[in-house]
Amino acid sequence: MAETIRFLHRGQVRHLAGFSPTRTVLDFLREDERRCGSKEGCNEGDCGACTIVLGAEEDGRLVYRAVNACILFIGALDGKELLTVEDLAGPDGALHKVQHSMVDCHGSQCGFCTPGIVMSLYALHVGGAVPDRQRIDTALAGNLCRCTGYRPIIQAAQAMGVAVPDAAEMAEKLELLRSMKGDDSALLPGSADALADLLLHYPDATLVAGGTDVGLWVTKQCRDLGRIIHLGQVADLQQIERADGWLRIGAAVTVARAADMLGGLYPDLAVLFRLYGSEQVRNSATLGGNIANGSPIGDSMPALIALGARLVLRRGAVRRELALEDFFLAYRQTALRPGEFLETILVPEPPPDLAFACYKISKRFDQDISAVMAGFGLMLEAGVVRAARLAYGGMAGTPKRAAAAEAVLIGRPFDAAAARDAAAALARDFQPLSDMRASADYRLLVAGNLIVKFQAEWVGAALATTRVPAFKAGGVA
Ligand SMILES: Cc1cc2nc3c(=O)[nH]c(=O)nc-3n(C[C@H](O)[C@H](O)[C@H](O)COP(=O)(O)OP(=O)(O)OC[C@H]3O[C@@H](n4cnc5c(N)ncnc54)[C@H](O)[C@@H]3O)c2cc1C
Ligand code: FES
Ligand code: FES
Repeated sequence: MAETIRFLHRGQVRHLAGFSPTRTVLDFLREDERRCGSKEGCNEGDCGACTIVLGAEEDGRLVYRAVNACILFIGALDGKELLTVEDLAGPDGALHKVQHSMVDCHGSQCGFCTPGIVMSLYALHVGGAVPDRQRIDTALAGNLCRCTGYRPIIQAAQAMGVAVPDAAEMAEKLELLRSMKGDDSALLPGSADALADLLLHYPDATLVAGGTDVGLWVTKQCRDLGRIIHLGQVADLQQIERADGWLRIGAAVTVARAADMLGGLYPDLAVLFRLYGSEQVRNSATLGGNIANGSPIGDSMPALIALGARLVLRRGAVRRELALEDFFLAYRQTALRPGEFLETILVPEPPPDLAFACYKISKRFDQDISAVMAGFGLMLEAGVVRAARLAYGGMAGTPKRAAAAEAVLIGRPFDAAAARDAAAALARDFQPLSDMRASADYRLLVAGNLIVKFQAEWVGAALATTRVPAFKAGGVA
């Protein structure tokens, strides 16, 4: 496919054409460019050895974010600035502050993880704020180090300081990036209209948003995806708007950006998104991709269903709207028709009298997939449940509401007895599977216990002690 992309690298605008659209950035760097600083560890987004940093315009500012190059297709570079570990040292070879700090604090032994860690720290360094310990932990959660251990790496992060951006240089780069915005192409459409037209012509094309699911179909399953279409330049799908009591989130908004906005409205969502993959994953993954992938264990769906989120689907010029829970038809089958795409996710702003909480149950704190994910939203009137939305992931072939348990709650005061009865009713809603993440019995038990916990927290409100201590938006103590 003769497509051209343009990106900024070491101050030069690079043009690339004639590449395979499913070539990863890591393979491009290591095999074509012979820049082997970025390492291949897992090739599935888990270890962070391949971490690079991309600069892009966000809300009128140039923002640098760490991403995993191993599952990123090359088209994702279009219109961005690329930085690899080779780009940090000065022209005379002098180490960058971040690298110096790693050396001074003895942050590297075998060194295999080191380039990725340096790039994660670099993104933190240029992030604009002096990072506290929580922020450092969050930034490093996607980088595995087997031999050094994290203490010296964290010390390096604490010692590296924070970059003072050169405003003129940033403005110049931003202009350059804006000037590189290409025309619509079959690989990289620039608007939702262009995407809609393309999909009418190529209804079998695979859409690639962040590629954190699709990338693995190539790197792990060696699948031939045929024609792919990137959503990275579809400007309308990157917008977040607030109007009439709703948040309208474009389907290609990254989880990181959605988390900032949603976490500000619903503190539980800030906690949830902190547990979602790693910073690198959240910086690439999109909210729309999480939904459209149709996985029964995706994290955002139960929480968003509990909030009454809705979707706008589009085919050509025709749009239809449906409740998020109605999008999932069966295991990995969604309501999307050929040629149709997810355009917008609508999330209501918090209404008064809403009791909301969500819980992710996984074996590890960082970088793990849920065994059970629960989202609970109750509308209360004088303590009595007027409407109930209890939604789960990991309990059925799709994200699903617990209709029987909801019915138990409606019309009753939300007290401990009601919570226990609702928990018992879950056996009528779900017959979960046993797999490597959890047994069926465990899933059913924990799903019920979460309702009980929700009620206890609701009654105790700020006094609740059942959560991981000192959890707060943006990080973990
Ligand atoms: C290391 C790692 C950790 C992870 N951790 C978590 C986690 O903790 N929780 C979790 O929920 N997920 C997790 N994931 C899974 C993944 O990150 C999410 O599902 C992610 O949100 C997918 O978004 P994406 O933009 O990368 O989707 P992509 O991979 O680009 O696409 C996924 C699917 O959605 C389709 N699609 C994308 N956008 C649209 C659209 N607008 N309209 C129609 N179809 C579309 C694609 O064609 C594809 O079928 C993890 C993945 C990795 C690699
Ligand atoms: S090689 Fe492990 S995250 Fe990329
Ligand atoms: S220094 Fe060996 S893996 Fe980190």
